[in-house]
Amino acid sequence: MPFTRPSANLTPIEDTVFAMVKLAKEDIAKNGEALVVDASIGSLYDEAGKLVALSSVFDHYDQIDHRTKAAYAASFSGNEDYRREVWNWLLQGRQLPLAHSVIATPGGSGAVSSTFCNILEEHQTVVLPDIAWGSYKLMASQNNLNTVCYSLFDKDHFNLASFKAACLNVLEKQDRLLVVINDPCHNPTGYSMSQAEWQQIIAFLNECSQHVPCILLNDVAYLDYGLDPKHTRDYLNCFENLSSNVLVVVAFSCSKTCTSYGLRCGAAVLIGQDPARVREAEIVYEKTARAMWSNIPNAAMENFSWVVSANREAFLKEKQQYIDLLAQRSQLFLAEAQACNLPLYPYKEGFFVTIRIEDPVLLKKVHQALIEHHIYTVQVNGGIRVGLCSLSLAKTKGLAQRIKTILDQCQKAI
Ligand SMILES: Cc1ncc(COP(=O)(O)O)c(C=O)c1O
Repeated sequence: MPFTRPSANLTPIEDTVFAMVKLAKEDIAKNGEALVVDASIGSLYDEAGKLVALSSVFDHYDQIDHRTKAAYAASFSGNEDYRREVWNWLLQGRQLPLAHSVIATPGGSGAVSSTFCNILEEHQTVVLPDIAWGSYKLMASQNNLNTVCYSLFDKDHFNLASFKAACLNVLEKQDRLLVVINDPCHNPTGYSMSQAEWQQIIAFLNECSQHVPCILLNDVAYLDYGLDPKHTRDYLNCFENLSSNVLVVVAFSCSKTCTSYGLRCGAAVLIGQDPARVREAEIVYEKTARAMWSNIPNAAMENFSWVVSANREAFLKEKQQYIDLLAQRSQLFLAEAQACNLPLYPYKEGFFVTIRIEDPVLLKKVHQALIEHHIYTVQVNGGIRVGLCSLSLAKTKGLAQRIKTILDQCQKAI
């Protein structure tokens, strides 16, 4: 009899990303850096192969008084300055005349996971994209939730019909709807939805909300690496027409925005028409925060507030260099992929691009064959993720053709 709760899943955690990162490191140690292409890492790396830690973020962090670092945060829902600055950062000057509340969370992970447990009862179902960040499923199962998936793409567009079908299917069985979207800069495909796609989603959720409360969780972890920073938030305008029975939860993460993955700072931003119902949700989120992690690192919140206000220009300028670098890497990879007919999911922007391999047998074979050729990627549902975020231009060059050759060989062998 295990000591843990009897319903707990005792299978060891299988983090496909960390497993690949480890294998790549071992290969580098054995065979040298020149031979290995490590496209498994999900953090931003520079052209010299070093993790990016933005000076406009960390120089100030280093100067923060020890007591500020030592202190508890001002409240379980976060420091007031931080809560205000996250809202302002999300809106970037837009007016959104809706009730809102910001709850500080340990990264975007805390925002997603706490939403799962705050919104649904155990054994209810959350609706996820079929191609997605793997942790959503783990978070769901740890919270004793079921999942159903919608097909993310219909050819090269968001699959609205599948999204609707998955939601309606869930609504037959339960009295509320929780759906997850990861936009813009979707992990792992790099897709970003159009305004029209966003409008259709909101119109549909408004319809559903005539019958039950609908909660849309939008994970914006990579939002600040969109190609056109002025327009990455345009979709927020669609929320003006939210019905009062729809709550939007935006899961924000400082991990990518500030290259501060280890500082564990993020936020769940609750947005709705009815202030009383947003306040109700805020109470529940705050209690979960108290019960699960108590409070978020004080200095991490203070630093974010300073970076996006006093140091805004320097921060935007430094971050832009990396948006430009990602653009160069993706242009190179996409052009070469097109030239050799390597099939990709529709990439627009962001950290990752995904090769389309729908046959699971072939997918496994290709992933393994890539490892044998010292190319480390992450296997996702329906494809292979290539982390452009951590791949120098030199390593990117020629990679699409190498993968295509391996894909063709595997296809022939089946
Ligand atoms: C899609 C997506 N959402 C959320 C996160 C959460 O990251 P963090 O908890 O570090 O903010 C990640 C991190 O990899 C991610 O890929």
